Amino acid sequence: MKKETLVNHQTPARPEPGNEPLVEPIHRSVKYTFPTVKEMAQLFSGEKDGYFYSRYANPTLRQLEILMCQLQEREDALATNSGVTAITNCLLSLLRQGDHMVIFVESYRPTRYIVRNLLARFGVTHALISVKDHDGIARELARDNTRLILFETPTNPMTWIADLDFIIRQARANNVLTVLDSTFSGLHNYGHYDIDIFLHSLTKFASGHGDVLGGAIIGNKELISRIKPDYANTGAAIAPDSAYLILRGLKTYFLRYRQQCANALKIALFLENNEFVEKVFYPGLASHPDHLLAKKQMHDFGAIVAFHLVGKEKEMHNFIEALHLFRLAASLGSTESMVTPAKLFFATDLEPEELLLGGIQETTVRLSLGIEDSDDLIEDLEQALRKANG
Ligand SMILES: Cc1ncc(COP(=O)(O)O)c(C=O)c1O
Repeated sequence: MKKETLVNHQTPARPEPGNEPLVEPIHRSVKYTFPTVKEMAQLFSGEKDGYFYSRYANPTLRQLEILMCQLQEREDALATNSGVTAITNCLLSLLRQGDHMVIFVESYRPTRYIVRNLLARFGVTHALISVKDHDGIARELARDNTRLILFETPTNPMTWIADLDFIIRQARANNVLTVLDSTFSGLHNYGHYDIDIFLHSLTKFASGHGDVLGGAIIGNKELISRIKPDYANTGAAIAPDSAYLILRGLKTYFLRYRQQCANALKIALFLENNEFVEKVFYPGLASHPDHLLAKKQMHDFGAIVAFHLVGKEKEMHNFIEALHLFRLAASLGSTESMVTPAKLFFATDLEPEELLLGGIQETTVRLSLGIEDSDDLIEDLEQALRKANG
């Protein structure tokens, strides 16, 4: 064999069975080969499991999908190349022209974009109401053509808690699909609730280090099989290298999440007693309007704290710019703490009355807690609050 041929047909050096690597290799191959045409045909007909092209399936992606099923207590999953891809693919696959769906003023802003701009162009209508509006939820779910409700809990950025029992009961009574974007609660909450589909941005707590995008659609086999053909044919799959980074991140997921939640509670308690803070929102605080519901539904209270600062926009800008450890960024769930001006980042598409419903004010700030030492974080907040107020 000539060397020009040799470099294109390299000899694999795979370990023998029993001598496996402790860390699984990343499967970068897009293509998978078959010894016979018959075996290739068997894969296409579904007679045999296997891989043929990574846009459909890949062992590294499958490892991530299986782990997510186990964490979220469901049968099947699809790993997508971002959180918004998970939302888009799920909705495009489960809805059709003439269907109606329910979303919330408290929903993640790109979710509102997808529903109000993209799906609307294809004849899917929606109601945009508050997650606290139980009458509105009951009314909208009872409409003849309502097919799906997409919600979050805790909500962004105010941390309202959606009443899962109520939403599920209403949805079941009306044969409506329940889809929970559970990015804020992580992969370990709500498995025992009768929720049809869990969506996640794996970019956040799952990967944990802010260096990779990814998403997940998790549900029973039947629903996932309805989504899979669109997922594969629209190129929604995550890249194997990204899936690997998320799998690696997940090894420390619980350590990080617990520390982030513990930091969030300490910070919320500190802020609650600070003269420059008007009101703090953290589901773990007894003063939070949904504290009891959060206690009933969640294993923990999350890593997001929101608060209204005393003063005006100017004081809010001064405060954010005076922080050293909390970095001004529009993400969450990383090892480092972050700060975000709520109205600017999450609500510029909302009308004033929708903003009012969502509870976001001019000086509302969202903190996403990292895993730093809480005393250092409190010191940073304390000096910035003092500086902001002269
Ligand atoms: C609740 C929620 N869903 C989905 C996403 C989208 O995730 P990604 O940035 O991975 O597309 C985010 C991102 O912030 C989010 O907060």
